[in-house]
Amino acid sequence: MKNLDADNVTEAVVASFRRTRDERLRRILESLVRHLHGFAREVRLTPAEWKAAIDFLYAAGRISDERRNEFVLASDVLGLSALVDLLNRPEGATESSELGPFYNPDSPWVPLGADIVRGAAGGERVLVRGRVTDTAGRAIAGALLDFWQAAPSGLYPAQDPAQPADNLRGRMRTDEQGRYAFVTVKPGPYTVPYDGPVGALLRAGGRDAWRPAHFHFIVSADGHVPVVTELFPADDPHLEKDAVFGVRASLVFRYVRHETAEAAAPYLVEPPFYSVDFDFRLAPA
Ligand code: BEZ
Ligand code: FE
Repeated sequence: MKNLDADNVTEAVVASFRRTRDERLRRILESLVRHLHGFAREVRLTPAEWKAAIDFLYAAGRISDERRNEFVLASDVLGLSALVDLLNRPEGATESSELGPFYNPDSPWVPLGADIVRGAAGGERVLVRGRVTDTAGRAIAGALLDFWQAAPSGLYPAQDPAQPADNLRGRMRTDEQGRYAFVTVKPGPYTVPYDGPVGALLRAGGRDAWRPAHFHFIVSADGHVPVVTELFPADDPHLEKDAVFGVRASLVFRYVRHETAEAAAPYLVEPPFYSVDFDFRLAPA
């Protein structure tokens, strides 16, 4: 019998997966085992530290439910979600970013230029507008935009009984020129949930839980790769230290302030208001 020791245990585990039929899965498992063991060797992981990691996973499972997934949050704050996203971006398309836990697939359909403030949100008014094009700059008519955001308070409707459930979200199709537009309020920055094991990890690492303010979008069209992304205002104080590493320079915009109603034409927005002009590019599928 071959004796297992710290030098050969990794190869033994890798070999135990050699009959995995799915080739891709075998490759992933082999690499996972090698990196996991390599990591334990590199830091000379102690039994107490191994136990702390298992306790972290156990606590993440206990605090998770249909509305909260602490494992996704752990992936987010460790930058794994961002890395997977960055590795899989189609050439020439708008950069993607976090989906986050507040996406709701049944937002109300709204017409071009709709006001999506359905409750008394307060805050500063914003007209968000632009076009959806392909990577060659040709307009995509009938593209679908699904958008949602937090209120100026930093709270999503799901976290705030004072907001109607459909507040600050909607679905819209672009017109013949690929244009979209909606009227809203400036979203506020907010913290990711930090009352669980991920919060403890952030505190242990001397990090904070803030995300800069942002607008969420899923933009899709037949024959194109959908883009899940976020837009961030340049003046947000948390831009450089997003807890989940979602910010990309190409997704940062500047609010432009307007004092006259004409600046919103053909839409109606009472001045003063701000505009955000942002075009989305979709890659062919
Ligand atoms: C969000 O943008 O809503 C979000 C993203 C990642 C973790 C928590 C919240
Ligand atoms: Fe968000």
